[in-house]
Amino acid sequence: MPISDCDKMVDIATTLPGLKLKNPTILAAGILGETGASLENVAKAGAGAVVTKSIGIEPREGHGNPTFVETEHGIINAMGLPNPGIDNYKDEVESIIGTNIPVIGSIFGADAQEFEILAVEMEKFGVSALELNLSCPHAKGYGAILGHDKEKVLEITKVVKGAVKVPVYVKLSPNVSNIAEIACAVEDAEGDGIVAINTISAMAIDIDMALPILSNAIGGLSGPGIKPIGLRCIYEIKAETELPVIGVGGILSGNDAIEYIMAGASAVQIGSGVYYKGIGIFSKVCQQIQEFMDAHSYKTIKEMVGIAQKG
Ligand code: FUM
Repeated sequence: MPISDCDKMVDIATTLPGLKLKNPTILAAGILGETGASLENVAKAGAGAVVTKSIGIEPREGHGNPTFVETEHGIINAMGLPNPGIDNYKDEVESIIGTNIPVIGSIFGADAQEFEILAVEMEKFGVSALELNLSCPHAKGYGAILGHDKEKVLEITKVVKGAVKVPVYVKLSPNVSNIAEIACAVEDAEGDGIVAINTISAMAIDIDMALPILSNAIGGLSGPGIKPIGLRCIYEIKAETELPVIGVGGILSGNDAIEYIMAGASAVQIGSGVYYKGIGIFSKVCQQIQEFMDAHSYKTIKEMVGIAQKG
């Protein structure tokens, strides 16, 4: 469908605290976020916002190869949070600030003090919002070790909120017994929203070698197989908190995005979908959302947010 026809269809703009998005699709952290130029390409391909690579205090090489394996229903990765360190990432972020879409800065740290330093720096670079990565399932000392502990989530969110003016979103792990309880800790700390879900702790075995395929043995599963788990998590979070949610996990089509929106998400992130469908996925998903809304007489994204919630 030509862009001009698409433009005439229903409006799919959406809002979240501190973010006005022309459409609900956002590039997820860790995909094409290495440079300002690659983020800009995603912006040009039609995303409503982009999330940077997760950035820490110091440069990190991450885990050795292999770091990535495709399985029947998704991809398992254990990159190990490779990144250039906050000081070396400044120019990359600054090069895309002021282009036509919001940039969300993803950060990870070992404790609240590191998160505070990173948040302050990212805010200085000009990002529109922050995403606290409290959920990487396989980087020792970071991510899930903090995000599985509601007291730590509360502390880190509170410290960051006290240090910056931009909205603070917290990316949560599905590898917990009660994700809504962790989301409540974000709400208690006056975080602005939740991003859910990060990848699911997973493994693949090479049966000829009789060894795990990934150098780190354990990685995180993303892609189509995790969508039902992501939906369940969003549904549970929205049942227990008032926080806006950005849904992520296995979104490959407009219908997948609508499922997340009906479960309670105000916007969605796409990560593995770029691997499966290419960078054109953003405009395709937007077009499919518009077609669905047109066919079912929905006028706004807001009308659909959370309508699948019981009661
Ligand atoms: O290995 C990685 O860099 C993944 C990070 C994440 O899942 O948050």
